[in-house]
Amino acid sequence: MLEIAHLNKSFSLGGTKRVLDDFDLSMRPGEFVSLIGPSGCGKTTALRIVAGLLEQTSGTVTIDGSVSTGPSRDKAIVFQHFNLLPWRTAIDNVAYGLELQGMPKAKRMQVATEYLDLVGLTESAQKYPSQLSGGMRQRIGIARALAIDPKLLLMDEPFGALDALTREHLQGQLARICQERNLTTLFVTHSIDEAIYLSDRVVVMGVQPGRIIAEFHITMRKPRGDYNFRAEPEYAQVREDIWRLLEQQIVRAERVA
Ligand SMILES: Nc1ncnc2c1ncn2[C@@H]1O[C@H](COP(=O)(O)OP(=O)(O)O)[C@@H](O)[C@H]1O
Ligand SMILES: [Mg+2]
Repeated sequence: MLEIAHLNKSFSLGGTKRVLDDFDLSMRPGEFVSLIGPSGCGKTTALRIVAGLLEQTSGTVTIDGSVSTGPSRDKAIVFQHFNLLPWRTAIDNVAYGLELQGMPKAKRMQVATEYLDLVGLTESAQKYPSQLSGGMRQRIGIARALAIDPKLLLMDEPFGALDALTREHLQGQLARICQERNLTTLFVTHSIDEAIYLSDRVVVMGVQPGRIIAEFHITMRKPRGDYNFRAEPEYAQVREDIWRLLEQQIVRAERVA
């Protein structure tokens, strides 16, 4: 479904800084993969390249067999900061991408209503972002991304700005939606716990150079909100293994900084 091959990215600001070095990742349809790594290792850069928002120095991104070279309607991205249009109501924000696609008004309102329902915001359709909580705004961001029916959902720390309880609640909703709709999702996070909860596979990035150094298949049954997955032996083991690796990378990042 998604094939990222030999991706390299350098930024030139005065000197040249190599951020991604031979970054490779493949995902099968319906797979949920989390990308975790120390701050500054290149997670956002990788996601923006996959989304077509940033050009790579070399390497290819292939989606469903076609080489991807820019933004397109088969990819949707959700950022940490909600990026809603403040002058549009909740439903008009969800309908925005459909409007850009030229969908007629009646149809796009019908689709937007369906996606607002999916994230539990039916009642708030006519409210403006400023009238809604952070968690509600992020749900609108998710509904807007899903409404265009993307082949690939990209999320960059989407719950990073939310309080712990709201975050946990939205993780549950996202897990359910992704599973029901068999969405192929690449999810960037700083949280090991969040990554394990949501993912079929957790991919760990190292620093300098930014590349994948390990991956962990999470085999605990889904949805994991239905039982105490943190009590499973697999949880403790994989959490410990991921943490050990990340700790080494964080120390390394400090040394080279
Ligand atoms: N537009 C840019 N110009 C120069 N350097 C950048 C730019 N964007 C990101 N970087 C650098 O690339 C590295 C990786 O950044 P980023 O992908 O945001 O990391 P992460 O999301 O893992 O925290 C950082 O060192 C950052 O300073
Ligand atoms: Mg980032």
